[in-house]
Amino acid sequence: MNENLLRPVSIGPVALKNNLALAPMAGITNAAFRVLCAEGGAGLVVTEMVSAESLKYGNKRSFKMLELLPGERPAAIQLFSSDPACMALAAIEAERAGADIVDVNAGCPVHKIVRNGAGAALMRKPQLLADIISHMVKAVKVPVTVKFRVGLEAGENLGPLLARVSEEAGASAITLHGRPASQHHSGPIDLDAMAATAAAVKIPVFGNGGIENAAHARAILSAGCAGVGVGRAAVFNPAVFSEIAAGLSGSGVEAASQAFRIKLFLRFLELNAGIYGEEHGLARARKLVGYWLKGLPNASAARGSFMTLKTLKEARELLIQYTK
Ligand SMILES: Cc1cc2nc3c(=O)[nH]c(=O)nc-3n(C[C@H](O)[C@H](O)[C@H](O)COP(=O)(O)O)c2cc1C
Repeated sequence: MNENLLRPVSIGPVALKNNLALAPMAGITNAAFRVLCAEGGAGLVVTEMVSAESLKYGNKRSFKMLELLPGERPAAIQLFSSDPACMALAAIEAERAGADIVDVNAGCPVHKIVRNGAGAALMRKPQLLADIISHMVKAVKVPVTVKFRVGLEAGENLGPLLARVSEEAGASAITLHGRPASQHHSGPIDLDAMAATAAAVKIPVFGNGGIENAAHARAILSAGCAGVGVGRAAVFNPAVFSEIAAGLSGSGVEAASQAFRIKLFLRFLELNAGIYGEEHGLARARKLVGYWLKGLPNASAARGSFMTLKTLKEARELLIQYTK
């Protein structure tokens, strides 16, 4: 009989109902999507990464990204920069916006982030990472967490060192993406590196990478991680958290039907309209519609039609065929 690895977990004083978190995804984990994931069973949701420098200069778009909806608690706001003072100021803004947790991005491999010394570049500078964390910890009351990768290059395991440095600097939890930065988001995860990292610290380590079902989550939790972070598997099925939870606890649940998923997509469009307005909310959903319609009859025609929609009424008329 498999041990039940679905557990409540605390990040500092913040008690999560379970150990299944949504991983941050730029362009995807906006407030509308986070509400669906919270309703879909996630114990913690995380925003897209927000530029601390942009907040410093009062960028309206970045401030909009800090806005949280009531249905998405607890929520972490993720920030990026290589400047400790700037990250501390941004953490204050995130706390003011209502963040339950503030997270540091130390794993993004995208060139425009790394070339400024932020994201994964911080993995080569443990002292700077520690300074960033300790400045933020001093600036806010909410817990500060950090997300990094097992290494920059394949075969490298920086996890234990970075985890210890982060813990000593005051971090309350870590998310560890089990792939090196050089692999971006593809390829296998390094379970041994995850196990070594989890064993190196007392704070909870959330393992992340390639989790699509309870078996994948079980492997990471069995390696010693306190929780897991789920990214792309949630993109077209925010109910994946409940499915993983049921699988881990052995209670068994049916996978979300296509009709149910499309109803969730309609709800996503409604929430998006509430945030950005109807037309702009639909425009922002265009790059996601392909994920949601994948595998459905006439998906490519429906996707094409979606690109021209201006109102929620039109969206309902287009998608109703898939909800029966
Ligand atoms: C489109 C996309 C955007 C992402 N944006 C972020 C981000 O803003 N911050 C971050 O820490 N990781 C980001 N990631 C990485 C994810 O959080 C996660 O580590 C990665 O997708 C692996 O998990 P998965 O295999 O479950 O998707 C992003 C990944 C994708 C695919």
